[in-house]
Amino acid sequence: MPPIPGVDPGVPNSARVWDYWLGGDEFYPADKAIADEIEQVLPDIVDQARADRLFLRRVVEFFAGEAGMDQFLDIGTGLPTSNNTHEVAQRLRPDARVVYVDNDPLVLAHARALLTSTPEGVTAYLDADMHDPDHVLDLAGETLDLARPVAITMLGVTWHIVDDDEAVRVLGRLVERVAPGSHLAISHQTDEITGRRARDAVDMWNRDAEPKGVCRSKRQLEELFTAAGLILLEPGVVSCNRWRPEAADVPSGEVDQFGGVGRKP
Ligand SMILES: C[S@@+](CC[C@H](N)C(=O)[O-])C[C@H]1O[C@@H](n2cnc3c(N)ncnc32)[C@H](O)[C@@H]1O
Repeated sequence: MPPIPGVDPGVPNSARVWDYWLGGDEFYPADKAIADEIEQVLPDIVDQARADRLFLRRVVEFFAGEAGMDQFLDIGTGLPTSNNTHEVAQRLRPDARVVYVDNDPLVLAHARALLTSTPEGVTAYLDADMHDPDHVLDLAGETLDLARPVAITMLGVTWHIVDDDEAVRVLGRLVERVAPGSHLAISHQTDEITGRRARDAVDMWNRDAEPKGVCRSKRQLEELFTAAGLILLEPGVVSCNRWRPEAADVPSGEVDQFGGVGRKP
């Protein structure tokens, strides 16, 4: 890849390593090296990444369908791949308005691929940091009507908020500022299924890669939803493959990427 301002090819990074595990081609040798090393310790990681993306699709279909949402805020978007949030949402709701948020310069460089809206809908991209939820929402409010419910997705990104109090602050502030009836979906690295191997993989990540991450338990994730003032919807926080798994392409096995959806009463 040509040099991109703000991108250090020598430091493995979340968006690029995730892209590698998802079968994309936006990564440097350093990303591949840590990705392969982690895969040795935690062979499930590729299935986790795939399960996360299938979870994204089902969650956004739930939001745009049953939950009646037409505004979406995707924080920690990642590099464009198949079934990006606006594509899934606008298939069901062509008028859906979708705002993407990421702070990675490479994601920003590829943002054009995310901005292919239907004529009736809107997509926007914000280069912003989730640690500043007021800034994120102030900018998102230029595209979304924050007086009406918003569906927020934070998939594979809250594990980068390492400190628990900071996670409660960030999620709590996002939820506080959006309208009742808004939803928040999270997916997150856990150690529920693979135990020590998952924790070792996170240690490896933290030794070499950025931004740092943390493993949380199912119970800790449930507490995050509650602390943010959300009602956790059925089936609660579960392995991504077990969240409304009716679609034919969802594998039956459990992976350590857990997910859940909460609703603001
Ligand atoms: C593992 S990827 C997940 C991508 C996508 N949400 C998915 O589930 O496939 C994590 C993404 O979060 C982004 N990210 C990490 N820290 C962030 C921050 N402080 N603010 C915004 N985005 C962040 C990374 O740049 C990366 O694109």
